[in-house]
Amino acid sequence: MIQVFRSSILHFPQPTQEPDKEFEYFADGFLVTRNGEILAVGPYSQLPEEFNATPITNYSGKLIVPGLIDSHLHFPQTEMIASFGEQLLEWLQNYTFPTEAKFANEHYASAMADVFLSLLIANGTTTALVYSTVHKHAAAALFASAAKIDMRLIVGKVCMDRNCPDSLKDTPQSAQRDSADLIDAWHGHKRLMYAITPRFAPTSSPAQFAALGELAQQYPDVFIQTHLSENKHEIAWVKQLYPQFSNYLAVYDHYNMVRERSIFGHCLHLDSDEWLVMQERNATVAFCPSSNLFLGSGLFDLEQAAKHNVPVTLATDVGAGTSFNMLRTLGEAYKVCQLNHTRLSPLQGLYMMTMGSAIALNLEDCIGNLNPHTEADFVVLDPEFNELAKLRTNGRDFTDPKDLIFALSILGDERAIHATYVAGKNLYKKTQECA
Ligand code: GUN
Ligand code: ZN
Repeated sequence: MIQVFRSSILHFPQPTQEPDKEFEYFADGFLVTRNGEILAVGPYSQLPEEFNATPITNYSGKLIVPGLIDSHLHFPQTEMIASFGEQLLEWLQNYTFPTEAKFANEHYASAMADVFLSLLIANGTTTALVYSTVHKHAAAALFASAAKIDMRLIVGKVCMDRNCPDSLKDTPQSAQRDSADLIDAWHGHKRLMYAITPRFAPTSSPAQFAALGELAQQYPDVFIQTHLSENKHEIAWVKQLYPQFSNYLAVYDHYNMVRERSIFGHCLHLDSDEWLVMQERNATVAFCPSSNLFLGSGLFDLEQAAKHNVPVTLATDVGAGTSFNMLRTLGEAYKVCQLNHTRLSPLQGLYMMTMGSAIALNLEDCIGNLNPHTEADFVVLDPEFNELAKLRTNGRDFTDPKDLIFALSILGDERAIHATYVAGKNLYKKTQECA
């Protein structure tokens, strides 16, 4: 099936260190999709004649960008978002573990999987790197839900065999076996992929890391995701638990968990040796600004990452993160950088949740941009989603998208998501006008 769209269109067709300069923008553009793939993109005045007879979906006045990528969040924490008053370790004990224990029930996990994916899509997120719970069936339920809507999703069963309630513990053997079963069943099935997922160093024994490191070597193209250097008490705890290692990252590195397609959440307090290892191993940081503010964890240092050429992707980290919405997350990232006296430009931010993220995940041939032959995941943003946004953006110079993205990142949230397309299918359309 061929579809033709007319809209303003913005994306980054190439990898770039300078997203402020190297973007492609059509103030009046066309996008053609065929059977879930992008066929062509360009200025509307150059729409090829062969499409003249195809009905046009007219999004004039709106802005199409690639589907947004959330590189770190927790599916079972959806319902516990906005839980009051703790820092990381207490928050895990008091809210997170009891909530994740509910996913022992398979029906519950399946129902929550559908809710979770609807929330992602209503927020314009078409790909995410997702932590499930320790239960194998919960990860399988999320894969099954994503398969039904042909979404590109990366999921991992959390592995933890100590320092958590007994009901949430696996073992080195079961973690390895269950993860391998999930890889065999789902990695490469439709658009789905697997991430080996030790929760963080305090909840995995050396034996569990050894088992997962072995698995990582057996499956060199799967993702690896975990948390790193989020909270000062957490770091001190890792030092106690793993005294033989020179720093936190060295624990993961020893067990072969630091490589391309390894995505480390947070990285707030890394020392210079850790930054160098991140660089040498081509690992990626998931910057989770709303979570870092919410748990009072610290301010991510974007300049250090740039200095070491370590890719940074944006992420919500729901449920410590306070919104599923990536525009809002970009607004929070901007404020974190302000507090750190660095500047995050709006287009750099957009890059960190589209093409930059796709490149870090090695998926730029599939997602993150609107190049021909990539998968037709895209979002239609509404710059005039309410009266205030209208006032702010109306009559602005539509030949320059930077100001538009910035205003949307500071004022916007799910109200600015007009429609979301996954593999060429319209899976979300806003129905209500906003006041
Ligand atoms: N560190 C270990 N587990 C978690 C988690 O679930 N959320 C966050 N933010 N940090 C963690
Ligand atoms: Zn997290």
